[in-house]
Amino acid sequence: MPVLNDGTTLPDIGFGTYPLKGEECTTAVLSALDAGYRLIDSAVNYRNEEAVGRAVASSSIPRDDIIVATKIPGRDHGFDSTLASFDRSSEALGLETIDLYLIHWPNPKIDKYVDTWRAMVRLQEEGRVTSVGVSNFTPEYLTRVADATGVMPAVNQVELHPFFPQVELRAFHDEHGIVTEAWSPLGKAAPVKESESVASAAAAHGVTAAQVILRWHQQINSLPIPKSGDPERQRENFDLVGFTLTDDEVAAITALGRPDGRLFGGDPRTHEEM
Ligand SMILES: NC(=O)c1ccc[n+]([C@@H]2O[C@H](COP(=O)([O-])OP(=O)(O)OC[C@H]3O[C@@H](n4cnc5c(N)ncnc54)[C@H](OP(=O)(O)O)[C@@H]3O)[C@@H](O)[C@H]2O)c1
Repeated sequence: MPVLNDGTTLPDIGFGTYPLKGEECTTAVLSALDAGYRLIDSAVNYRNEEAVGRAVASSSIPRDDIIVATKIPGRDHGFDSTLASFDRSSEALGLETIDLYLIHWPNPKIDKYVDTWRAMVRLQEEGRVTSVGVSNFTPEYLTRVADATGVMPAVNQVELHPFFPQVELRAFHDEHGIVTEAWSPLGKAAPVKESESVASAAAAHGVTAAQVILRWHQQINSLPIPKSGDPERQRENFDLVGFTLTDDEVAAITALGRPDGRLFGGDPRTHEEM
């Protein structure tokens, strides 16, 4: 179980919700909770905070056993606008406390992520947010917010899958006690799952390619948040106990990484999230 720098723990796997919305999202989150997921990843820009909140409210799982994450969009960066954005997310989710609150993208051109981070630290001090983190941050941006506030982000959620294994960034995270969360952990695309090293590990352990990739994440200290709208695939992705990849298998999957392996979202140094 990943332990955050604020002392709280996260599960080994979370549930991604993009692009689920409305009733479809509520139904998917409810079945994910039934399957055992306890970390649910949302964002203002996914337009599904209400739908996630409805699932949390109607689930038989106690509220305190569920970790709800959401993210501040680029247009809300800035100290006061972050506080206002928090109020809107809290209301949309129907939750007084947000368990894990992330800056969605650094948006370096507008250069307000430090003020945004100061507001998040304030919200954490006030007990309105349990854990604070970021997404799509480089070591430079992580260092800058930590130097400005004395608080290092507990989590950095980044694109990470076998074609883009983020070896250097993960080493930086491990050195600074930051938990690596992986978005698009399956690389969305079929080619990742069809890679020879993934397929051979799946055959050797009698599991699916998706299970191999998600187990690889856990063994390299990465917390994957796979999305599936299908209850059967949700259960498949959650069921990772009972097998361990060998060091050689882990290394062979990491070796699938390539310089052009980034699949989505652009470069955090130039990408501006709205
Ligand atoms: N912070 C960021 O900037 C950022 C960016 C992108 C995503 N995210 C978060 O990360 C989450 C996951 O990323 P993602 O949705 O892009 O990619 P992903 O989880 O790697 O892949 C999702 C795709 O794989 C399919 N799938 C899931 N499990 C499968 C299985 N066992 N076998 C075959 N296909 C399977 C899903 O289809 P079905 O639904 O039909 O099963 C869906 O099309 C998002 O939902 C979101 O919460 C964050």
